[in-house]
Order: sequence, then structure tokens, then C-alpha cells
Amino acid sequence: MADEPKGTPAETDRILTNRQGHPITNNQSQRTVGSRGPATLENYHFLEKITHFDRERIPERVVHARGFVCYGEFEATGKIGDEPASKYTRAKLFQEAGKKTPLAIRFSTVIGGRDSSEVARDPRGFAVKFYTEDGNWDLVGNNLAVFFIRDAIKFPDVIHSLKPDPVTFRQEPNRIFDFMSQTPESMHMLTHLFSPRGIPASYRHMEGFGVNTYKMVNAQGDTVLVKYHFHPRQGIASLTQAEAEKVQGKDFGSASKDLFTAIERGDYPQWDMFVQIMEDHEHPELDWDPLDDTKIWPEKDFPLRHVGTMTLNRNVEDFFNENEQIAMGTGVLVDGLDFSDDKMLVGRTFSYSDTQRYRVGTNYLQLPVNQAKGAKVATNLSGGQMSYQRDLAPGQNPHVNYEPSIHNGLRESPRDQPNNPPEITGRLTRSVLERRNDYVQARGRFCTMMDWEREDLIANMGDLLMECERDVQERMVWHFLMVHDAYGTGVGEKLGISPADVAQLGPLPGQVLTDDDQRRLQNLG
Ligand code: HEM
Repeated sequence: MADEPKGTPAETDRILTNRQGHPITNNQSQRTVGSRGPATLENYHFLEKITHFDRERIPERVVHARGFVCYGEFEATGKIGDEPASKYTRAKLFQEAGKKTPLAIRFSTVIGGRDSSEVARDPRGFAVKFYTEDGNWDLVGNNLAVFFIRDAIKFPDVIHSLKPDPVTFRQEPNRIFDFMSQTPESMHMLTHLFSPRGIPASYRHMEGFGVNTYKMVNAQGDTVLVKYHFHPRQGIASLTQAEAEKVQGKDFGSASKDLFTAIERGDYPQWDMFVQIMEDHEHPELDWDPLDDTKIWPEKDFPLRHVGTMTLNRNVEDFFNENEQIAMGTGVLVDGLDFSDDKMLVGRTFSYSDTQRYRVGTNYLQLPVNQAKGAKVATNLSGGQMSYQRDLAPGQNPHVNYEPSIHNGLRESPRDQPNNPPEITGRLTRSVLERRNDYVQARGRFCTMMDWEREDLIANMGDLLMECERDVQERMVWHFLMVHDAYGTGVGEKLGISPADVAQLGPLPGQVLTDDDQRRLQNLG
């Protein structure tokens, strides 16, 4: 024992047992009849070990399969910009300057499987679970401010196009751009994704965005529309395609490693959190819809307002328990924060807990990483696979797992605080948002790029489009010309397609063009 490193438990404390608590005396050999004879079935330890191993994996996430979790805290300023936070929200975590809320964060890539490269050209997930005193708040965002589509019904299609081909199991550019070429609202996201910002150098050096539009509610029940932003204090750093290929040649897990080692050496990454705020109505003065997640809210019109700082300072102890089993979703909000009618958000809100009941299991919220640590939990949910505790309140009659009851069961909380969003009326319909304006913000983004950034965008886009069939290439060039002449001409040159070659294509079936789009279309010829 004299050689034991300081602080290590005594040898007797490190005795291997099975999960029944029985000490294991032989972990090297199964029980057999004689040293060369058949194995016996009553070997409990062997069976526990091998059958547990057989079940070591749960299904990987259908998207964002590769990711990395760590922990930290959010410190509020007590304000939203220069104004008291209470003016816009009654959510407790924002109210007081210096108030700290513990959190877990999971960064991820989207399309690759659980062991795929962390320097793929792919959006990055930026999903934060705040363990607030009012229960958990999950803000499930990405590193890019916009998304490919604006209606949740299209999500399985966009993801199928980006995921490997169901026959060849290879990510096929022709399938991706086949879908995107029929989806004009994706041009803005694609312009971000193929720009030099499309491959973050690490998780520490990227921004985070809530992407979808949410609401805040104050004590009077007044609501505003909100977008969330995180800015890394470490700065933003990205890789070119060539740099990424070099990294990937050596290491598929470069971003997880960078984050893990930074935290281990005490170099805690930090992000400032901001919100943009808009009055809660349709904003007919805008040529885009505030509920459209393919659009940003220009910062000159909707300034960023600082609300606090996030610091990451602790690594996980076990990848599986804390990364594979963490479960976040857009439905997980606290009082003072609310949904908007963003048609992506409603679909997401159903999808996350649905997939988690399947992927992790019915009782996924009983797992430590998912528990509402900051708040009391008392429910009448009962049973289900892997249930290991009742959510009983102190002094609750354990026989009463229903409500209402006069025999000391759980009672409803006092009625909700006021919430007075604008009233909505309308005929039941399946329709698209009217103000689509699919090219204007992609153009804005293209115009703010420096020359080298445009060249990089065009080269990245051209390289992948070269693997596509001619009809797909032509339609993509047509869209890029609708965004900006130099964009369409540049990508077209790489593919041997001139504006005259695509002039006759005309709009997609059902595509509504703005007056400005119509003018651009006429100039194509
Ligand atoms: C993960 C659905 C759009 C960010 C997931 C998962 C599903 C899903 C099923 C796997 C969750 C799990 O297994 O735990 C959807 C649907 C969408 C949508 C149906 C559109 C209708 C978006 C958008 C963003 C986003 C717009 C960005 C703001 C994420 C992130 C994760 C994720 C960050 C990983 C969460 C984690 O780290 O555990 N999504 N998603 N998703 N999604 Fe979405």
C-alpha cells in the first residue's frame, strides 16, 4: 500500500463487483466443465458482463449524432441592454445582476454519425440546458443564424437529402443539391455554410444562435418576440476546406479534444449572451416575416442587447451518461419565456421529446443529466421501462398517483401568471408565409463579404456542384444569379454554365418572385 498514489482509495475499496454487489473473484475465465470443456449457463457474472456489453449502445441521434458536452454557468446582468430585464421577461434567471444559473451545453455537428469528423462543412449544434430555479430551460441552437427551411414538415426531406444515400450510403452532392435547387429559401443558409465561416476551427471559437423566434413575457403578461445570440469572447476562428482536410486526415475528434483540454487546463471559454427584441405582431413594414427562420433580424434595426455571460468550466465524467443521454428540446421553457408561432419551432417542439422517448427511453428525464436540478419535481407519472424513482413531494400520500384527490395527493399550482399575446384568427390552412423574399438576405450576406471570402464561397460551392448532374447544376446557378450576378457567374464559370444557358429556366412551379426578383430574371436573358 505504500506505493499507492496519494488520494487513491484503499485497495479494498477498488474490489470489482457485479451490479448485485457480489465481489468478482475471477474476471479472466468463464465457468467451463474442465479447462477445455463446454461453458455452463449459470455463470451469472459472465452473462451480466456480456449481455450488458451487447446493449452498450443506444440509437445515435437521428441528427447531431456527434457531439460533446460540458458544464458551466450563466451569469445575468439583470438587464436587457440598458433596461431592467423585468421590462421584457419575468424569467427569474435574468432578473438580478450577478445571478448565476448552472448549465450543461452540448456542441455537435449535424449530419455525420456518432464517430464522424468534427471539421465537416456542416452547421454546428449549440444546445444549452439551463438548470434554473423554475425548472429546466433548453435553448437548442446552431452556430449559423438561419436555417435551410421555414416549415417543420420539410425537415425529414432536407435531412434525408443531406444524409447518406439510402443505397450507396455515401453523402451525395447530387441528392443535396437536387433538394436545395427546389428549395429557394435554402439559398441564404447555403451562402453561410459554404462561406469561410462554414467550418468552425473549434467549438470554442464559434457563435451560437437560437435561430427560431421565441417570446418573452413580463409580469403584466405583455409579450415581445425574441432572438438569442451568443458571441465567443475567444473570438471566431474557422478553417478553409484545405485546412479542414488536413485536420481530418489525422483526427476526427479535434473539436471535442480542443474543448476538453481547454477546460482541463483551466482556460474556461466564455460567451456573451444577447437578445434581439421586436414588438409582438406581424410587422407588415418588413419585407420578410419575423417568424421566418431563413431570415436574420438586421442588427441596425433590432440591436443586440446584452443579458449575461456564459462560462464553461467543468468536463463530463462519463461520455455516455452525460453526452449520449442528455436530452434537450425546444419545448423546455420556463415561466417568462414562450414559443412564437414560428412554424419550425412547433414541429421541433414535438420532435425532440418524441425522439428522446424512443432514443433514450420513457424515463429519460429521471437521468441525472436531464433532471431539473434547480427545481422541485413532483409528478404523477408512473412506471415505464427503467423507472427508478417516484416523483413524490415531501409528505405526499404515496397511494395517490392521480389528481384531484382529497387524500393528500399533488395539487395544481396556482393559475398561470398573465400571458396576453396578440389574438390570432384565421382559417385552417396549409400555406406558406407570404413574405418569402428568398434571395434578398443571401444577397446582403454576399455583398458584405470581402473578395477572398466570395472566392472561397464560389470555390467551395463549385467543387461540390461539380459532382452533380447538369439539370441540378443549372438550377443552382439560376438561383445564385437571382441572388447576385457575381455569385451566379462565378459558380457558373466553374461548371461551364453561362447566364444565357439558364435564362430560359424561369421560376420554379409555384415560386413567387418579388418585383426585384422579376427585374433580375429579365436581365438574365
Ligand atoms: C437535434 C429535430 C431544426 C438544432 C435534433 C434531434 C431531432 C431534431 C429529432 C435529435 C434529438 C435527440 O435525439 O436528442 C429537428 C426538427 C427540426 C429541427 C424536426 C425542424 C423542424 C433544428 C434547427 C436547429 C436545430 C432549426 C437550430 C436552431 C438542433 C441541435 C440538436 C438537434 C443543436 C442537438 C441537441 C443535442 O445536442 O442533444 N433535432 N430539428 N434543429 N437539433 Fe434539431
